[in-house]
Amino acid sequence: MKSPALELDGHRFTILIGREDIDKAVRRLGQEISRDYRGRNPIFVAVLNGAVPFVADLLREFDGECEVDYIKIGSYGNKMESSGTIKLHKDISASLTGRHVIVVEDIIDSGLSATFLKHRMDEARPASVRFVALLLKKEKARVDFPIDYVGFEIGNEFVIGYGLDYGQKYRNLKDIYVTKD
Ligand code: IMP
Ligand code: MG
Repeated sequence: MKSPALELDGHRFTILIGREDIDKAVRRLGQEISRDYRGRNPIFVAVLNGAVPFVADLLREFDGECEVDYIKIGSYGNKMESSGTIKLHKDISASLTGRHVIVVEDIIDSGLSATFLKHRMDEARPASVRFVALLLKKEKARVDFPIDYVGFEIGNEFVIGYGLDYGQKYRNLKDIYVTKD
């Protein structure tokens, strides 16, 4: 499904970042991370559900030995606003002690999820923790640690596609769409 504008649940969505630009950014991030983690067998911890397409593509751009695990947290209801409380739905199963951890997020909005994840990772006493996010809402995000690798900085706007949902739908769109509503 690709078209310049979509009418979904009464909202008008237009393409913000096209598939080719997503691919280019993922390749760049993969190259940067490969360079920084050479010989360190990092473990990517991807955040379900949104980061699935991103981590699948990013892993294949990583050159070297690595592992992957998943964590599931939730803050969003079914709408466009965060509820403000983070819940752990599914914890990681790998041991992170002494490991080089790279947390993979689809988007950093308020920064609450990333902060929750940082604490959870630190508890496991890893050798290092870094964050990669495909999208960062720069004006809005409040984190007191760096987001080390960022695909795109975007404004304070609501986006869907390439893993990002609206009411759990539209994660399957190949491009990233935005609504001004
Ligand atoms: P935060 O805790 O406010 O940073 O929100 C992070 C999570 O909220 C992301 O991992 C997404 O699942 C979801 N989210 C934030 N902004 C958007 C958006 O614009 N579209 C879809 N999901 C979003
Ligand atoms: Mg998410």
